[in-house]
Amino acid sequence: MRLVVKTRSPEETRLLGETLARLAGEGVLFALGGDLGAGKTVFTQGVARALGIEEPVTSPTFTLVNEYHGDCPLYHVDLYRMNGSADAWDLGLEEYLDGRGVVVVEWADRAGGLLDLPGVWRLFITILEGDEREVEIVPPRGVDGSRLKETLGNEGLEVVEWRGS
Ligand SMILES: Nc1ncnc2c1ncn2[C@@H]1O[C@H](COP(=O)(O)OP(=O)(O)O)[C@@H](O)[C@H]1O
Ligand SMILES: [Mg+2]
Repeated sequence: MRLVVKTRSPEETRLLGETLARLAGEGVLFALGGDLGAGKTVFTQGVARALGIEEPVTSPTFTLVNEYHGDCPLYHVDLYRMNGSADAWDLGLEEYLDGRGVVVVEWADRAGGLLDLPGVWRLFITILEGDEREVEIVPPRGVDGSRLKETLGNEGLEVVEWRGS
């Protein structure tokens, strides 16, 4: 299934991250795509909030991974500096997929093989006018689409498109 949410402020994108992280639980990976400034790090801040992390979350520009400790570990990966397509396994990312934490990867398409893993939520953020963003969400298999849509709606988020069961 595929779902598109429109956000109108950084806070709404944060709320989306928080809501999805609550719903997804542990042992999941959020694979984020979208241009520089789209809101990938802002989304990650919402994920961190869901895990009770109070430390400010910024892009791990000079390291590959930032690690935070909340209710469970959060591994925040940014592959922006990755040239070409590195293999997710060569990068050692599997180390973080131990089932007990949450992994967020910015520029996830730069790591081959990552998107095909189980438990991966694929997100792509498109910049619209001003503070508007469109976030395309493809959850892993087995996620109940109508429940997801309802949960997002209950948070006041606008679902503009929905396909699949
Ligand atoms: N709807 C929105 N969602 C997310 N960020 C937004 C939105 N509107 C404006 N912004 C701004 O866009 C920027 C997104 O930055 P960031 O999350 O670092 O992008 P990325 O990590 O994708 O490069 C921030 O300055 C944020 O305040
Ligand atoms: Mg970023």
